[in-house]
Amino acid sequence: MAQIRIQNVRKEFGAFTAVQSSSFTVEDGEFFMLLGPSGCGKTTTLRMMAGLELPTSGEIYIDGEEVGMKPASQRDIAFVFQMFALYPHMNVRKNISYPLLSQGMPRAEARLRVEEVARIIKIESILDRPVGGLSGGDRQRVALGRAIVRRPKAFFMDEPLGALDAEFREHMAEELRALHDRIGATTVYVTHDQLEAMQMGDKIVVMNHGVVEQFGQPQDIYDWPATKFVAKFIGSPAMNFFDFDGMIGIGSDAIELSGHRVTVPVSRQGASGKLTMGVRPEHIRFSDASAYRGRVLATEYLGTTQIVTMATPNGEIKARTDAKQSITSGEIIGLVFDPQTLTIFDDMKGQALLSEANERVLRHG
Ligand SMILES: Nc1ncnc2c1ncn2[C@@H]1O[C@H](COP(=O)(O)OP(=O)(O)OP(=O)(O)O)[C@@H](O)[C@H]1O
Ligand SMILES: [Mg+2]
Repeated sequence: MAQIRIQNVRKEFGAFTAVQSSSFTVEDGEFFMLLGPSGCGKTTTLRMMAGLELPTSGEIYIDGEEVGMKPASQRDIAFVFQMFALYPHMNVRKNISYPLLSQGMPRAEARLRVEEVARIIKIESILDRPVGGLSGGDRQRVALGRAIVRRPKAFFMDEPLGALDAEFREHMAEELRALHDRIGATTVYVTHDQLEAMQMGDKIVVMNHGVVEQFGQPQDIYDWPATKFVAKFIGSPAMNFFDFDGMIGIGSDAIELSGHRVTVPVSRQGASGKLTMGVRPEHIRFSDASAYRGRVLATEYLGTTQIVTMATPNGEIKARTDAKQSITSGEIIGLVFDPQTLTIFDDMKGQALLSEANERVLRHG
């Protein structure tokens, strides 16, 4: 198993910088997500970690050993590009044993390994079937089996479920996560799907334009985004932004929003000018006692909760409330924001201001 650490790693293609100086650590046994929009540098980062691409500068360590110049074949890792890449003319057993036999492992030993893997991924009953006639799910399992049979130190997966339809994708995501929990191998997984990253990952790196915006546990990133980009990219419906011109001092615990005082976590950083208060939809409550009011534009019923779209003095926002609460379009409602869940962003820098509430997450990096 393996710990993978990248330090100040940077990648240029000619004059274009695909990955800016990036640093993070994947701990041994973690399921680690590289998340971000198309073109942000996920694949390039993964390929450098795997040894398929040389960094322009910076270091990569696997279990403390610098591997920058070592090619992929010497890093003892498995790269799962596209899970359907199997040898169609061979049966399942041959597909899985192929990597072992081509490394020169004796047949008897390889046979035992394949049977062990078949038990782990639950395909004992189809070992002698040709892969050509298998269902998509079984083929996916066989491809995984072929990757894990070598017992590599780490797995690298680049949008492995990208080609699948939504329902099957969710099912395979659960299976992949369960498989990871059984074998405990370090896994680095690329996706542009924030839900997939939140559901599957122990840790997430969020990238944008080649920059690591934030790195941490899913819940911490959701609760305490380090930048406006992360706040927008993670969560559905997205975090609400209340833009205002104003100021907040070090040690202050309130802002003024369209003439109303709003309590916020004690600020550890001062800022003035264009600021934004970020609020998750589920952290907005309705109360007649509040003088900060919004007008209901629409409601969307989701079973246990409903999404209420409202016009406020600071623009359109969405609140998530109990579906039992009766709300009608056109209604004017007082809004209360849970004080300890609020983030203030400095618009110029796009960064969250450090506060008593988010410092645990933002200080450790
Ligand atoms: N070999 C290359 N030569 C030149 N530019 C490249 C090369 N590989 C990647 N790039 C550029 O680097 C940037 C990052 O690419 P990368 O493939 O890492 O993005 P990604 O986050 O994986 O995106 P996607 O979600 O679309 O797969 C892109 O702008 C891409 O065009
Ligand atoms: Mg990619």
